[in-house]
Amino acid sequence: MLIAIDGPAASGKGTLARRLAAHYRLPHLDTGLLYRAVGAQCLARGLLEDAAASADIARALDTDMLDPDALRTAEIGEAASRVAARPDVRAALLDLQQRFAAQERGAVLDGRDIGTVICPSADAKLFVTATPEVRAERRFRELQGRGEITSFEAVLEDIRKRDARDSGRSAAPLTQAGDATTLDTTALGIEEAFAAALAVVEKRLSSR
Ligand code: C5P
Repeated sequence: MLIAIDGPAASGKGTLARRLAAHYRLPHLDTGLLYRAVGAQCLARGLLEDAAASADIARALDTDMLDPDALRTAEIGEAASRVAARPDVRAALLDLQQRFAAQERGAVLDGRDIGTVICPSADAKLFVTATPEVRAERRFRELQGRGEITSFEAVLEDIRKRDARDSGRSAAPLTQAGDATTLDTTALGIEEAFAAALAVVEKRLSSR
């Protein structure tokens, strides 16, 4: 079974993807980490403006070296969104994601273009949303918990900027697949959101 989960930053898609993967005992790939790893290496080498170098870094990416904790900073999120707008970077990461999705038992992938580009024939597709304010609140608390010094206003501005860049780019923009089910988590706690996501997947499976 292949489950595709897309949505904007801090919508809750990562948590839902992890929970669904654990529930169905499927491997899970947070594809944002791939773009974050490329962004982080570009930042570290002073190459963020260099499109050709970022594509080279994406082609040479070692997925065994992904460290989620180190990659989930606000600065790396911004760098990820910039390199992710480059078609060569996206092309370099396509095969890797599709091979992960093609595992025999299936998989859960979350990102921005899973249901539209990476796995258009996924068995179940979710598009997870929430208002920018609620997403900023969640991200603010997460960053505070990690000891990052920032303000709610700065996080909200970052979320709005990233939404605009991710949705407005020409290469695989953030957009809902026609056959994806929307799950708005604005007013939902984690357990409620998970129950709703599970219900969507079960319904899709029963109608296969
Ligand atoms: O989900 P996360 O915030 O970790 O993603 C970081 C950035 O990577 C996003 O803002 C987006 O620009 C990019 N991304 C993407 N396609 C994906 C996953 C992430 O463009 N499938």
